[in-house]
Amino acid sequence: MMRRLAVLGHPVAHSRSPAMQNAALAELGLAGEWTYEAIDVAPDELERRVRAMPEEGFAGANVTVPHKGAALVLADELSETAREIGAANTLSFADGEVHADNTDAEGFLRALPASPHGEATLVLGAGGAARAVVWALLREGARVEVWNRTELRSRNLCEELGGSPVTAPDSSSYRLIVNSTSVGLRGEDVFAELPLSAGGFSSGQTVVDLVYGVGPSRLLATAKAAGSTVVDGIEVLVRQGALSLEIWTGSEPPLDAMRAAARGPSGS
Ligand code: ATR
Repeated sequence: MMRRLAVLGHPVAHSRSPAMQNAALAELGLAGEWTYEAIDVAPDELERRVRAMPEEGFAGANVTVPHKGAALVLADELSETAREIGAANTLSFADGEVHADNTDAEGFLRALPASPHGEATLVLGAGGAARAVVWALLREGARVEVWNRTELRSRNLCEELGGSPVTAPDSSSYRLIVNSTSVGLRGEDVFAELPLSAGGFSSGQTVVDLVYGVGPSRLLATAKAAGSTVVDGIEVLVRQGALSLEIWTGSEPPLDAMRAAARGPSGS
């Protein structure tokens, strides 16, 4: 019997996960046994949809915006990582139970060029994506400051997870800067909306932008031109997806095939 996997989101049509995961399954020689699809699920339908999935042949699912918090609540069993972060992106179904895990945090760390241990880092944002990043950086022993447009949320995040809220960061003083807001997704000007200056990047810095679209984001293009090391949202997507695939299939994920498929035919 075909074992099914899916990404549940709302909207979800733009997701690169089906192309990436089906390419991985093909590369592993598992395309005849496993398949991965995108399913649009409205928030009020999530629990019913997830509960029906095991019967329909699903072995697991990724959950993405806006379901990562709800997925945690409906699960029967949580990994410690998912519980601490307060969000889940990977569900596995076994014996009628829903197990929830979070591979965003570890995927983010694996996408970095070097360990952030002991480094001064700045995280922009205080939503679910930012929580996974802050948790991961603290676990690695980085020094973490968190800026968010709505200050109360960054203060709350730091009270729960650790790190220090910052209201007017000097972006040139951090070795690692992570955009985990949604700014840039709809073409917003990152340098107007976020406390970053286009002329403030340097070669000693690494800049990560979790927002991805077609082609490099303006944030990463600017940082790269200044000599910074850049990591885009596709690489983070690949790394979290690889960890999810490993949870479901137990196979070593083919990262290059996943990267190529996630970037699409344009190679952007
Ligand atoms: P996710 O779970 O994907 O992180 P989210 O919880 O909706 O999504 O978080 C979106 C993040 O982007 C928040 O940090 C949000 O800031 P607020 O908490 O102030 O809303 C941030 N964000 C969205 N639009 C923004 C903008 N124009 N300028 C600055 N921050 C923005």
